[in-house]
Amino acid sequence: MSLTILGQFLKNPKHIGAIASSSKGLSRTIVSDIGIESASVILEYGPGTGVFTRQILKVKRPEAVFAAIEQNPMLATQFRLEFPDVPLYEDSAENAPGIVRHLGADKADCVVSGLPWAAFDDGLQDRLLQATLEVLREGGTFVTFAYLQGLLLRSGKRFQQKLKANFSRLTRSRVVWWNLPPAFVYRCER
Ligand SMILES: C[S@@+](CC[C@H](N)C(=O)[O-])C[C@H]1O[C@@H](n2cnc3c(N)ncnc32)[C@H](O)[C@@H]1O
Repeated sequence: MSLTILGQFLKNPKHIGAIASSSKGLSRTIVSDIGIESASVILEYGPGTGVFTRQILKVKRPEAVFAAIEQNPMLATQFRLEFPDVPLYEDSAENAPGIVRHLGADKADCVVSGLPWAAFDDGLQDRLLQATLEVLREGGTFVTFAYLQGLLLRSGKRFQQKLKANFSRLTRSRVVWWNLPPAFVYRCER
């Protein structure tokens, strides 16, 4: 298990929101059934150590535009070393619309999020969701994960309500128990 995320979590728990990288099982679940294979423009939020990035690279079309947005400087540096061919914006995902324009695109087909939504306050959840709705094309997919215990938190419940209110279709995957802690995936269609 990578200790990188644990080290960054101890320094900045609110922004990292996890003590370990997501498992392979969760990474496979997050990229399945969201149309990555046919997407032209894909954005990843909060790649951390790149566990979702590896899965995206396995299934995306070679010609697809794919970029990641990571706010943590240490994780961004490590990501650039490991994935030199994936453009990495060291920025907040709140700025996703400008980043997509910088990539020469108008909208994204898929947004894959590794962000710890339940650790965010109401205002930050709203700003990040607003940016995501702005950046996704109609019919595009936003996918993110949540820890099971996060559903007991007010911020986790609030986030689920916001997804219901803002997307035309919302589904939840089965629970991935082989993850620390167990988690599930929200798939949302704009
Ligand atoms: C829970 S970790 C997930 C890392 C990885 N995707 C995984 O599943 O193992 C959350 C990641 O989101 C990043 N992050 C937090 N807030 C962010 C923001 N506003 N914009 C971009 N990245 C952010 C953190 O630095 C961290 O890398």
